[in-house]
Amino acid sequence: MKETSLLCLLFLISLLSCTTNQARLTVSPSSSQFFKGGLVTLSCEEDDSSAGWTVRRNTSKKQRTQCGDGWGISANSSCNISYSTTWDSGVYWCESREGAISNMVKLTVSGGSVILQSPVLPVMEGDDVTLLCQTKTTPSNLPAAFYKDGSLIRKQPAGHMTIQHVSRSDEGLYKCDISGHGESPSSWITVTGMPTTTTTLSKSQTPPTSSAPPLDPSILQAVHIQFFHVVGFCLYFICTLLMISLYWHRTTGNNMTISTAAAAPPIQAEQRFAHN
Ligand SMILES: *[C@@H]1O[C@H](CO)[C@@H](O)[C@H](O)[C@H]1NC(C)=O
Ligand SMILES: *[C@@H]1O[C@H](CO)[C@@H](O)[C@H](O)[C@H]1NC(C)=O
Repeated sequence: MKETSLLCLLFLISLLSCTTNQARLTVSPSSSQFFKGGLVTLSCEEDDSSAGWTVRRNTSKKQRTQCGDGWGISANSSCNISYSTTWDSGVYWCESREGAISNMVKLTVSGGSVILQSPVLPVMEGDDVTLLCQTKTTPSNLPAAFYKDGSLIRKQPAGHMTIQHVSRSDEGLYKCDISGHGESPSSWITVTGMPTTTTTLSKSQTPPTSSAPPLDPSILQAVHIQFFHVVGFCLYFICTLLMISLYWHRTTGNNMTISTAAAAPPIQAEQRFAHN
């Protein structure tokens, strides 16, 4: 009996360390486009700082380089790019020592005179999203034209546009244009549904156009994390029940036969889990 409980406990501990091994990359200022020369802070918000999360990136020049290794200043799972250049454009993510990865974000540092400030993280279905078209030199209230997937969607007199109650059909590649100043780079906006059913999640794994940035692995990872949480909770529940039943049978006397039967389900679940 003791061995079973011990095994159960050990398994729980290993599972717990597995589920906490995750992080989320956030960007400040919260935008997917920047003018060159500014400060950009990338932070890994982690559950377990001992996992050694660092910010990594792929740019057109180099792949999988770590913050501090030729770019950025690294401290406590965050990274500052204090004087960004167009070469800092690329895909960023957090990676732990064991190789676990966070969500990925695509950043564009522009050497031009117009940028589109759009959400860098996926937006929730039903939320309102504001896009801002900005020039480097003048205040951000010049008339601007907004484009989605190459077609003009709106002309706004004050340079910003709000999409109310976003839906999946709003997902796409956006850019803006300020007459007399120029056009911004393009940025992809991802819309995610409530993570309740696997069908809505799998739908978002196939973006409608070929120009989609590689955001899908983060969604896939979110599904995995959900899965581990559910499995973890179930096993925790089974183990608790098992221990209660062991205790109860011990105190009532007839301990052997029934408690061995009760010990079987978690071992099966464990084997199934290991098989997965
Ligand atoms: C970064 O580059 C590596 C090596 O080319 C590649 O395997 C990986 O998929 C890239 N990651 C992203 C997020 O683009
Ligand atoms: C990044 O810059 C911010 C703002 O200047 C500062 O508070 C923070 O300590 C810096 N972090 C690193 C890792 O240098």
